[in-house]
Amino acid sequence: MMLNKPLKLLALTLIILWSWWTSFHFHGALGDPQTLLLNKGCSQYNATNLSNFNQNLNSTLRDLRNQSKSMDFGTSHHAVGADPVYGMFQCRDYLSKADCATCFSVAAAQIRNCSAGANGARVIYDGCFIRYESSGFFNQTTLPGNSMICGNKTASGGSNAFNGVTQKVLQDLQTATPRIPGYFAATKTQVAAGSGGAIYAIAQCAQSVSEGGCSECLNVGVTNIQSCLPNTDGRAYDAGCFMRYSMTPFFADNKVVDVTPYLKQQEGGNSSNNKGAIIGGVIGGVVLFMILFALFLWLRRNKKLPTRGPRGDLLGATELKGPVTYRYKDLKSATKNFSDENKLGEGGFGDVYKGTLKNGKIVAVKKLALGQSRKIDESFESEVKLISNVHHRNLVRLLGCCSKGPERILVYEYMANSSLDRYLFGEKKGNLNWKQRYDIIVGTARGLAYLHEDFHVCIIHRDIKTSNILLDDDLQPRIADFGLARLLPEDKSHLSTKFAGTLGYTAPEYAIHGQLSEKADAYSYGVVVLEIISGQKSSELRDDADGEFLLQRAWKLYEKDMHLELVDPTLDPEEYSSEEVKRIIEIALLCTQASPSTRPTMSEVVLLLKSKNLLMENMMRPTMPVFVHSSNVRSQHDTSTSTASSSVSASKATVSTSVLSAR
Ligand SMILES: *[C@@H]1O[C@H](CO)[C@@H](O)[C@H](O)[C@H]1NC(C)=O
Ligand SMILES: *[C@@H]1O[C@H](CO)[C@@H](O)[C@H](O)[C@H]1NC(C)=O
Ligand SMILES: *[C@@H]1O[C@H](CO)[C@@H](O)[C@H](O)[C@H]1NC(C)=O
Ligand SMILES: *[C@@H]1O[C@H](CO)[C@@H](O)[C@H](O)[C@H]1NC(C)=O
Ligand SMILES: *[C@@H]1O[C@H](CO)[C@@H](O)[C@H](O)[C@H]1NC(C)=O
Ligand SMILES: *[C@@H]1O[C@H](CO)[C@@H](O)[C@H](O)[C@H]1NC(C)=O
Ligand SMILES: *[C@@H]1O[C@H](CO)[C@@H](O)[C@H](O)[C@H]1NC(C)=O
Repeated sequence: MMLNKPLKLLALTLIILWSWWTSFHFHGALGDPQTLLLNKGCSQYNATNLSNFNQNLNSTLRDLRNQSKSMDFGTSHHAVGADPVYGMFQCRDYLSKADCATCFSVAAAQIRNCSAGANGARVIYDGCFIRYESSGFFNQTTLPGNSMICGNKTASGGSNAFNGVTQKVLQDLQTATPRIPGYFAATKTQVAAGSGGAIYAIAQCAQSVSEGGCSECLNVGVTNIQSCLPNTDGRAYDAGCFMRYSMTPFFADNKVVDVTPYLKQQEGGNSSNNKGAIIGGVIGGVVLFMILFALFLWLRRNKKLPTRGPRGDLLGATELKGPVTYRYKDLKSATKNFSDENKLGEGGFGDVYKGTLKNGKIVAVKKLALGQSRKIDESFESEVKLISNVHHRNLVRLLGCCSKGPERILVYEYMANSSLDRYLFGEKKGNLNWKQRYDIIVGTARGLAYLHEDFHVCIIHRDIKTSNILLDDDLQPRIADFGLARLLPEDKSHLSTKFAGTLGYTAPEYAIHGQLSEKADAYSYGVVVLEIISGQKSSELRDDADGEFLLQRAWKLYEKDMHLELVDPTLDPEEYSSEEVKRIIEIALLCTQASPSTRPTMSEVVLLLKSKNLLMENMMRPTMPVFVHSSNVRSQHDTSTSTASSSVSASKATVSTSVLSAR
């Protein structure tokens, strides 16, 4: 009884001392859920069935909230109906349970702030993050959009020592954290004896990634966060990990994790032991730090650091999503029952309608024209999936599809400025200046190069023409209808009714022999480029064009070194350089060479367009191109324009027909 009072007093004193000490050493982290918002993102895509989606989202967030009360990491997944929701949250390990729950609540309110129905979102705070998506993402580590946030205060005084030590701390965290159960490490490191100041640093990975994934993610994180030096604060975030350092304490000293045992596991192990001692910082003198810094500089110079800056706002929440399955009913009402009023055009594979979905989004709806003989099997869906995964700024995105009975419908992004042919030959003729035409020429080449070479499956378009090149709001080109040939069975001849109508663009070996390669697209591209420059249709015999087809005329003028005669008279000669125009005409003629092997690939075309000297350096000079006009070739299905000069069967049989040479 008698001892009780002094003991109590002692305890009280200790508590006061302790709280004074912590508040001195550690502003604000206790009872601080650290709800400084670092990054957020919402998907551009809306769920298809809002009520299902909201139910899934609510259930997922409810699970996560419950987990956040007792754990610092959790995932959940609900999939009622067609709009599944996958969710994940994580608190920094050093937060108390209560702070974690608070941070979660703030984050959960913020993530709701995306437009109702956004089928993915993320919010990242100092203290925690929440993310949800419409598909599983739990093992993702590093994604485009990874980035850093740097403080705005520079370390005072010996910033060389500061840089060197911080660098080392971060690299040690990257090495150690993936090996630590729970993937969390926190360190406190004196900058230099006597100079005062310590560096507080943490690294954390999502617990659902692999050790290798954690390491990979932190590797990117270190690269990002290092660029904050010599600022006193830095943070790096990514899909699967987070790093932060600061001269200001942001966690309590008792949260520090001894990382040295995890560094020792390294193969050689020699250098890290030494460095570990240095980091202890008690004996480390200025000399040692200078050595370290020199080492750092040397490493930096010798190791080419990958630059992985932010590339647009992705990082998951706005990740591009796979195809949506639309309901026939919805598309029918979106297009006013496929009314003529909503009809945008008639493409090679069916009619296209403008549609306004229930959520207000405007789309282009293509009803595939499927003849009796065209049977559609399961490969349709997988092809749609493949094509909808093609993302490039010069390609029109396929958003999804719809199957009803024998009907197949594709839903695309809507392009308000319609197609290039209208700007060259139609009602908007004369509205494109040289710069815009040049951008269209380059962008189209880029889109095709992507389809041919950069996507994991080579996609040959087969029907490049001005009406298949759409223009977005900035009049940048977007190639439409790629991959459609893949959707339809191969048994049909390449000479379908509709193809015959675009023979002015079709490579001779494909039109006549059905021999298909990427170079068939290169040919069509060359024709399109000449059309863009001249404003003359490839298949048109115009009086003001000496009664010649475009390709014939272009070649003649090229031979006579009178390229500029070809240029659209509506273009202002002040706008273009004759050298540039000449070069582009030459590239177009190279694309239309008779032999596919002499045509450049589309990525070569991009290079040739961008370089002033490449053509000359490689002494690439076109020879006479060839041109197939529809009067040379006729298919048995052809009911329209052709005035046949020779008879062609629609089968793959070879055709005896004269190809119009350019002379
Ligand atoms: C989901 O939660 C939100 C906000 O808490 C609420 O407004 C909405 O009605 C809920 N929706 C469903 C389907 O439970
Ligand atoms: C909340 O989580 C605990 C365990 O963490 C679990 O036992 C309980 O059933 C959960 N409650 C709800 C409503 O999900
Ligand atoms: C969403 O799906 C449910 C059943 O899965 C259905 O009853 C409801 O009509 C759908 N809502 C919409 C707007 O399509
Ligand atoms: C939600 O967004 C609106 C506008 O974008 C903003 O004014 C509001 O503060 C946000 N709410 C929260 C909780 O951040
Ligand atoms: C998603 O829905 C919101 C309204 O809920 C709308 O503002 C937004 O434009 C839609 N986004 C898309 C891509 O349809
Ligand atoms: C993540 O998981 C998915 C499905 O389980 C798998 O297809 C994918 O390859 C995994 N990714 C990584 C990086 O492990
Ligand atoms: C530095 O950041 C703080 C808070 O983030 C801000 O109040 C201050 O104005 C900034 N200072 C400078 C020089 O940008």
